[in-house]
Amino acid sequence: MSVQPSTVESVLIENRVFPPNEALVRQANISGMAAYQALWKEAKNDYPAFWARLARENLVWTKPFTRTLDESNAPFFKWFEDGELNASANCLDKHMGTPVENKTAIIFEADDGAVTKVTYKELLARVSQFANALKARGVKKGDRVVIYMPMTVEGVVAMQACARIGAIHSVVFGGFSAKSLHERIVDAAAVAVITANYQLRGGKELPLKAIVDEAIETGGCESVKTVFVYQRTATTCNMVGGRDITFAEALAGQSTDCPPVPVSAEHPLFILYTSGSTGKPKGVQHSTGGYLMWSKLTMDWTFDIKPDDVFWCTADIGWVTGHSYITYGPLAAGVTEIVFEGVPTYPDAGRFWQMIERHKCSVFYTAPTAIRSLIKASEADAKVHPARSDLSSLRIIGSVGEPINPEAWMWYYRNVGGERCPIVDTWWQTETGGHMINPLPGVTPLVPGSCTLPLPGIMTEVVDETGQTVPQGAGGMLVVTKPWPSMIRTIWNDPERYKKAYFPEEFGGKIYLAGDGAVRSNGEATKGADRGYFRITGRIDDVLNVSGHRLGTMEVESALVAKTDLVAEAAVVARPDDLTGEAICAFVVLKRARPTGDEATKIAAELRNWVAKEIGPIAKPKDISFGDNLPKTRSGKIMRRLLRSIAKGEAITQDISTLENPQILEQFAQKL
Ligand code: PRX
Repeated sequence: MSVQPSTVESVLIENRVFPPNEALVRQANISGMAAYQALWKEAKNDYPAFWARLARENLVWTKPFTRTLDESNAPFFKWFEDGELNASANCLDKHMGTPVENKTAIIFEADDGAVTKVTYKELLARVSQFANALKARGVKKGDRVVIYMPMTVEGVVAMQACARIGAIHSVVFGGFSAKSLHERIVDAAAVAVITANYQLRGGKELPLKAIVDEAIETGGCESVKTVFVYQRTATTCNMVGGRDITFAEALAGQSTDCPPVPVSAEHPLFILYTSGSTGKPKGVQHSTGGYLMWSKLTMDWTFDIKPDDVFWCTADIGWVTGHSYITYGPLAAGVTEIVFEGVPTYPDAGRFWQMIERHKCSVFYTAPTAIRSLIKASEADAKVHPARSDLSSLRIIGSVGEPINPEAWMWYYRNVGGERCPIVDTWWQTETGGHMINPLPGVTPLVPGSCTLPLPGIMTEVVDETGQTVPQGAGGMLVVTKPWPSMIRTIWNDPERYKKAYFPEEFGGKIYLAGDGAVRSNGEATKGADRGYFRITGRIDDVLNVSGHRLGTMEVESALVAKTDLVAEAAVVARPDDLTGEAICAFVVLKRARPTGDEATKIAAELRNWVAKEIGPIAKPKDISFGDNLPKTRSGKIMRRLLRSIAKGEAITQDISTLENPQILEQFAQKL
């Protein structure tokens, strides 16, 4: 794997430093740099003992573990394996008989603004009742259950109910197409699908159940015995006799008591599909013990959670952020959290700020894309500016999913955080299970655009292609040199791919390769204040990040060439975009003559819709251009670096002497 030079060039000199706010430092869960360093010292002194202590302190075990880390079958690491616990019991039952019992667990705000509140005790009853409904339909420990749900309390309940009986959930984001859903149902051989008739987003009713039907009808889904359907709206949907059952029917007569099933710490809690550098998404498999400990502990460390906090993570449960920081972490931490069904721009782009005021949110966690679009909206219309809302309840604000550009960082810091709230810019991945590199509110001086330092025990480094650590100030590949409890365990059905993708032989097969480029600061610009800080420069593989959504270039290419009546060849690259971070650019060769003018516009629209149908609307290419052929070397390799330059509108400086057909560069450079 090589580091693309473009990822390193984009590093800019940033010399603004924001020390932690004194009041926060005094009461922070990790209070001051010395406390952070003490944790690091403990981790370095005895790595397994450090994690064993944290696992004992942060989880309730029905059977204590005696072995902390098993490296005998590396890179298939095992943590706390002989210990037993239940994830749902650690999020719900654990709070019964404590003051948390009657506390609000979830403040749910629907798309239309209706608010409902659920206490921990009520949530436990709902989860237990749904777990009994799953059991009544034959779902048992180890079975896979696909969840294709809107952002509702029921979505969280469905996930927790699976965990309660040891079933493995695989949540599929509600924006994915029938084809993507089908692929995931088949790969996991799911026994049940949990869905809703419709989802509500931005005032629109969008079908979910119809997409489930289409996916199952594609064939190969014989494993699916039950489809549970939550009636989110009054509109009726097709129900297949003998297979489909509404939530109301499934829950009728079921007890609200369901004993949690203890499982080994290594029992898979969930599979979550994510994009890699081939066309086929990877089923990232997470464990119960290590994963849950980390989602709970990072609530305490990164978000400095206190009993009175009102936490809000704006992600969808279809992504890992929603797993760790909606379904598991906040509940394990016993905090009150907001679950939001809608979109940030409906009924207007002030929705987030109004909701923070309405619910007195104190810790807010969102994505740079949302921030950038809300900056734009508030510049166009002062009525939706954060200054119109009372944001004084906020203590800590966070960012996740993609690099945050310093301009957006400053706007967020000033206008949302009131120059008082630290921004925790959290670098992590579906594979890492939880936060890895980020500032701590009571510890770390902030530098815009930098995710700063790794959490205690997380051994990150920047290395070159031979695995050697690069000097500070130089770019390289981000790696994690030691296993950590919440790491991916394998790729579902594909252990070989797990080894190849994450633990390359070149590095001895034991070092985790994140797939991101990074630079550690040499501290020159800040007089040493940010020495050693990490800055993520973007993916070094064929993975795109559009609005914080991860997609493979190969996935989009496969979707395009699947339009066999029209497309002969396609190549996809990313270019920077002010709003979405990266935008998808597709270079297409048709089976007919190269279209121009209106015809080109029409075909491009057709291809966009096609990709939306194949993968989901998030994968629609922003730019599509047509050529007689793709730029290839004489040996037939597509020259992707050239395409990247064209996509960015850069002058071609690369050596094109090996290019078979230079004239087509001109064709592709013509923007539609
Ligand atoms: O490229 C990094 C980027 O998002 C990738 C992981 O995507 P996903 O598995 O979908 O998880 C997203 C939510 C954790 C990473 O490889 N990324 C994520 N957070 C950041 C980031 N890039 C820069 N800064 C971040 N804070």
